[in-house]
Amino acid sequence: MPNQKFARPRGTRDVLPEEMEARRWLEGAFRSAFEGYGYREVQTPTFEHLELVIAKSGEEIKKHLYDFTDKGGRELVLRPELTAPVMRLYLQELTHASKPLRLYYLGNCFRYEEPQSGRYREFWQAGVELIGSPFAEAETEVIAVAAAALERTGLPAYELLIGEVGILRSILREGGAGEEDQARVMNALDKGEDVRPLMTEMGIPEECQRTLVGISRLEGGREVIAEAKEFLAGNDEALSKAAGQEELLDLLDSQGVKYGIDLGIARGLEYYTGMVFEIYAEGLGAQKQICGGGTYSLTEVFGGAATPTCGFAFGMDRLLLAMEKQGRTPPSKKKRILVVPAGSETLKKALEISAAIRKSIPCETELLRRKLKKALAYADREGIPFVVIVGEDELRKGCVVLRDMHSGEQRELRVEELDKLGLQLG
Ligand code: HAM
Repeated sequence: MPNQKFARPRGTRDVLPEEMEARRWLEGAFRSAFEGYGYREVQTPTFEHLELVIAKSGEEIKKHLYDFTDKGGRELVLRPELTAPVMRLYLQELTHASKPLRLYYLGNCFRYEEPQSGRYREFWQAGVELIGSPFAEAETEVIAVAAAALERTGLPAYELLIGEVGILRSILREGGAGEEDQARVMNALDKGEDVRPLMTEMGIPEECQRTLVGISRLEGGREVIAEAKEFLAGNDEALSKAAGQEELLDLLDSQGVKYGIDLGIARGLEYYTGMVFEIYAEGLGAQKQICGGGTYSLTEVFGGAATPTCGFAFGMDRLLLAMEKQGRTPPSKKKRILVVPAGSETLKKALEISAAIRKSIPCETELLRRKLKKALAYADREGIPFVVIVGEDELRKGCVVLRDMHSGEQRELRVEELDKLGLQLG
């Protein structure tokens, strides 16, 4: 442990080689799932103008920003998420691109939160944004992409729940709540708080309060929508949102996506307007949400034309934690070959031979000038299955020795064949 002042900042993590391999594997699985649906990768800066993030992301995010003023006096922020940045990128660079526009990203995000297991101050998201289609098939595609990505990870136990903030918002609107009050109630709902005192304070009529609380407690299968419709009698806007949700579920069924309904999902970010969904993994405790997303509206907030948009983001750190907790280990890259120069005269040749071997298989060269016995003990400890011993006597015959560390068997190989060693070992 270094002196405390040189230690890692609170809420951040170091990623060691084994976990890094798992992360890269996960990123690969996500990339191929996203690309399978025609999404293309984009990257945005790590920091943005503060204004972009506070424009519509909500109070909750504002409290948790890493914002700062740079040497030029600009107010900047380390991005807390990637939806607002990707919408900015769209408005600045891609408004003329053909629609629908399918974009995906992998990147680190920063939120000044109280760190705990699964909740960090720097964490990684992988997500997609689908721009330009107002139809239910676009929303269902986004949900299907998230399900397909998760499928590829092989995570055994999770739950995908769909909600509709449009219903909650129209109840609140009917009760006289403006945008700001809606946001406060949605935020409290997202945190699982009792929203009645808040609504009373806002002067929202008792009947509306009852409807909102009743709707927000509805959870289950498709039948939940029929129950919701009963609650909503008389509120045409909310009823049409509920009907829209039924259409969406029909399309999801035809794609074989497994889901549940939870009309209490309110999401922590303020920009959602319609369908919302969250995925929870078993075994993570309080921070079990590994993915969140939905239909939102941001382009007009940033001064562009209103454009239908939906998307989601996975939290990669939490997903990896869930995989570990559920015993799903991603394949790890094994070390394969160690080349050991036996005798000081053979070092140059050993380096040359290592380069040849690397043409077909990863290999490392002994760097500590250890004697053969100690180098073999190192290979054993590291689980390296094969050692190539470069000895003077064999070299004179144009050969090296290949040792199988598992059986202890040794055989001679011709130097000119070593560039194909990987093919031989399979
Ligand atoms: P979000 O729900 O705030 O949504 O974050 C998405 C995911 O990031 C969460 O489900 C969680 O797994 C992970 N996450 C959030 N905060 C932390 C943290 N402090 N530590 C570790 N993981 C965390 C969004 O960010 C939206 N931009 C998603 C979206 C995309 N909506 C539409 N398009």
